[in-house]
Amino acid sequence: MKDILDLDRYPLDREGSAEWQRLVEQSIAALEAGGMFNLEGFLRPGVAEMAVREIKPVMDARSHVHKRTHNIYFKPDIPELAPDHPALRKVETISHTVCADQIPGSTVLAIYEYEPLVRFLAATMGKARLHVMQDPLARTNVMAYRAGEALNWHFDRSEFTTTLLLQQAERGGDLEYRTDLRSDDNPNYDGVARLLEGRDPQARILRMKPGTLNVFRGKNTAHRVTTVEGNRERMIAVFSYYEKPGVMFSDEERIGFYGRAA
Ligand SMILES: [Fe+2]
Repeated sequence: MKDILDLDRYPLDREGSAEWQRLVEQSIAALEAGGMFNLEGFLRPGVAEMAVREIKPVMDARSHVHKRTHNIYFKPDIPELAPDHPALRKVETISHTVCADQIPGSTVLAIYEYEPLVRFLAATMGKARLHVMQDPLARTNVMAYRAGEALNWHFDRSEFTTTLLLQQAERGGDLEYRTDLRSDDNPNYDGVARLLEGRDPQARILRMKPGTLNVFRGKNTAHRVTTVEGNRERMIAVFSYYEKPGVMFSDEERIGFYGRAA
């Protein structure tokens, strides 16, 4: 793993050491201050390109195209809102998904399963333990966004999202986010409407570099990936970890996300 991850800069393999503890504390501080942390250069030079070469043939030939018109909640309606409320404005998401079962033995899956990474992430998220997911499709997904495609505005279902950027688009394909747009007890529908109308001055854009590991707290921070431009697709691995071992998706969830149950 030391040839794949920059363990000199990010000492995940030295759990409990002073430098490991320092990295955990910096990551927790960044999560508290800005809702995310980034380990730039997490992959050694050339590794992101190698991972892309492994996945690209599957992405081109067998990825699931996901195209949906949705609102920021990914729900057909919100009981307390009129159907024409501007917080329910429709947006479009298009992406291509490769599932873990399509890339056995890949570099991306080896990183996903690397125990010191799982333990480091648990420490930064304040969890006693995290576990890889058992679901053969959902445990790791690699998403591609091509010219004209975007992951549009949403809130995440899970508390934290862990991603590894493999390839950046020529232009666009950036993470745009609005920190703490809502809270657990205030849905702030007017604020949501303002963001969707492009009138929220607190929206920020982050251009990530390939090889960056990002942990993002997206439950109440609205975010999207802006529309990709140019010939190079944006490719990103999404890692799913749970506090419980053995987590599986239902057949309905698998069909909804990937168009197949197995
Ligand atoms: Fe998200």
